[in-house]
Amino acid sequence: MKTCRICDHEINPFMSFGQMPIANGFLEKKDFEKEYFFEMKVSFCENCYMFQLDEQPDASMMFHDNYAFFSSLSKYMQEHFKSFAHFVMELIPTPKQNAFIIELGSNDGIMLEHFKNANYRHLGIEPSSNVAKVAIEKGINTVSKFFDLNLANEIYNEHGLADAIICANVMCHIPNLNDIAKGIARLLKPNGLLIFEDPYLGDMVKKVSYDQIYDEHVYIFSAHSVAKAFSIAGLELVDLIPQRTHGGSMRYVLAHKGSRKVSSNVIQILEEEKCLGLNNIETFKNFKLNCEASRENLRSLLKEIRTSGDVVVGYGATSKSTTILNYCNLNHEYISYISDTTPIKQNKYTPGMHIPVKSYDFFKSDMPKYVLLFAWNHADEIFEKESKFTEQGGKWIRFVPRVEII
Ligand code: TMP
Ligand code: ZN
Repeated sequence: MKTCRICDHEINPFMSFGQMPIANGFLEKKDFEKEYFFEMKVSFCENCYMFQLDEQPDASMMFHDNYAFFSSLSKYMQEHFKSFAHFVMELIPTPKQNAFIIELGSNDGIMLEHFKNANYRHLGIEPSSNVAKVAIEKGINTVSKFFDLNLANEIYNEHGLADAIICANVMCHIPNLNDIAKGIARLLKPNGLLIFEDPYLGDMVKKVSYDQIYDEHVYIFSAHSVAKAFSIAGLELVDLIPQRTHGGSMRYVLAHKGSRKVSSNVIQILEEEKCLGLNNIETFKNFKLNCEASRENLRSLLKEIRTSGDVVVGYGATSKSTTILNYCNLNHEYISYISDTTPIKQNKYTPGMHIPVKSYDFFKSDMPKYVLLFAWNHADEIFEKESKFTEQGGKWIRFVPRVEII
């Protein structure tokens, strides 16, 4: 019998994605033989509404000194984190020289640098040492460790309580959420705030964007599940602000129970979630059918293009693409290569399907006819950048919210 990671209620997986590799595990040919795979299954808890991975590879396999994700590479994301930082600053009443901000999973410091530049006391926690090093070089106070109750106590002893604990695209990566929630509650001032954002279950269900599901995302949150999970540690939802990032995210604002006024957004979004069925397992059984139909449509479209003698290349070797490629069983016969601007991914192969990753310069000189947009969450930025490709007759293929050539 399997039990929920949050509330210990009995749960059963409603969907298997088959054998999956590590989503960010871009590799060299010599490492193909020893590549790690696990069966990726997902469950929904009818007691606490948490959408969760059944099994997750060991954290050290996903976040290490070779972690291939640097936040600062996208210019839209840089703007987004700047506005997130200002949102937090406006919510903190303390004179800023007394305020203390902690960020969990601070990556290369893309958000904390705004606090550093405004002279806030700050601390970043970033387990992947290569990205933490980049932040430290920028002068951002960073410790390269996993956040847990022990570290919370260490931070408390050294720095005292925090006005805000923030994180973006991190909370949904943390399996032992109950411990983390306790650590956060321990570290927050009586009027302190926990503010975080992650890909939103409501968007995933509506858009059938099942590529949000991969090894790192142990949870896909909703307001329903976040409210339940954090109430165990004495925190309550006080505000919710939908975000466009990562194909649809939610910003959750939480505080010690009873310490802040609850915004009308919370009531409204909880109501919307009920209408969408995010508290009902039947919604997810239907989601599974929608994923299967999306897979069928994408495979048929790519087969058709291949049969007509044309070549398709991928744009953005995203972690999300690992789910699409492996779930739809798309190898280099379907997609010749994937263009990506991240140096650490270039000249390697994608996890599982082993499609070559090439530089953006290679893509520019190649100018293929069809491009499958794996980085669909950055579509606005990419279409703007690639207007010439489109004008010259280049065709974009997308699979969210439906499979189509645009
Ligand atoms: P993300 O969806 O997890 O943010 O990852 C985006 C990936 O797409 C990352 O590997 C960088 C790549 N990318 C490009 O290659 N070109 C682009 O213009 C953008 C925005 C992203
Ligand atoms: Zn549960």
